[in-house]
Amino acid sequence: MSQAARRASLAWFSHCEIRPLGAGFINDTFQVQNQKRSYVLQRINGSVFPNPRLVMSQTSRVVDHITAKVSGWVPALVPNLAGELLHEDAKGEVWRLWDYVEGTETHQSLRSAAALQSAAQSFARFQNLLIDLPGPRFEDPIPDFLQLERYLEYFAQLQPEESWVRFVAERGALSELFRERTGYIHGDCKVNNLLYYVGSDNVAAVVDLDTVMYGHWAWDFGDLVRSAAGEAGTFSLYRYEMLLEGFLGETNVVPTVDELVLSPRYVTLMLGIRLLTDHLQGDRYFKVDAAGDNLLRAEAQFRLLESMERAEVGMQALARKTLSAN
Ligand SMILES: Nc1ncnc2c1ncn2[C@@H]1O[C@H](COP(=O)(O)OP(=O)(O)OP(=O)(O)O)[C@@H](O)[C@H]1O
Ligand SMILES: [Mg+2]
Repeated sequence: MSQAARRASLAWFSHCEIRPLGAGFINDTFQVQNQKRSYVLQRINGSVFPNPRLVMSQTSRVVDHITAKVSGWVPALVPNLAGELLHEDAKGEVWRLWDYVEGTETHQSLRSAAALQSAAQSFARFQNLLIDLPGPRFEDPIPDFLQLERYLEYFAQLQPEESWVRFVAERGALSELFRERTGYIHGDCKVNNLLYYVGSDNVAAVVDLDTVMYGHWAWDFGDLVRSAAGEAGTFSLYRYEMLLEGFLGETNVVPTVDELVLSPRYVTLMLGIRLLTDHLQGDRYFKVDAAGDNLLRAEAQFRLLESMERAEVGMQALARKTLSAN
């Protein structure tokens, strides 16, 4: 792949140094350096995003709109030598180049309360900044992405083991929720999609913009809670509280207690089903080191979901308290 990255880099530079960057599961990401400065070169994963050109045109609308309001809050896209924002290589793979945001670091998980609060605040702010995005409404970058009922339908067709069918059926009512679309969302609210100032709890920029879509605000909130409050397979009420405080202190939406409590479960069930589906289909979507990895990941999500269910009363109390404080 780095040979392909090297060739792609020639669309921007005649000479540069290239090294892999980040721990991404989806795209291939490289840090690229020429005599003057650093950039981020990325190949858009064409098997995840069926229409990389559509993704690029939507992503650049997001970048333009947000940059005009808050310069630097998302990295700039850099045109290539032909003046284009994307480069298509001989295999039809689509590449783009971002400014590297200096003086920042990414965390795979967050330790401090302040860093958790600023993560949630940053994703709420990201949604706020897109409320008035002009132009035609986005097409979904990944068809049916984040819609639980679609994944459930698909999963049922694969005739999974009886115990899985029962586990999922007991929670199938979650798919009745969050069906409407309320506004633009980030679509991948993991803390590793935030760039923190080095050594600080403050967020400098938001990255990984390919999944921005017109969706339900709670898909973002739920995914953030799932990934940041649910570490090591168990759910942390303390982390949930920090995320609630950050999100509710910033968001323009008016959530209900139920939405704040159930959206993490909606997203966790959905990811578990997607992982299990991918496992049953031979790991087409999520990269694996060994066969069975996606099954283990699915089981971890289902354990986390049970942990959230056990925490329900505590979550309701915290959601109620934080809502009334905002
Ligand atoms: N403009 C940037 N400046 C500095 N670092 C960046 C920049 N863009 C991305 N990174 C780093 O590279 C990592 C991977 O980038 P990105 O999230 O866009 O890729 P991805 O493959 O889509 O990730 P994932 O699959 O994990 O969601 C980020 O977590 C961040 O550490
Ligand atoms: Mg990412």
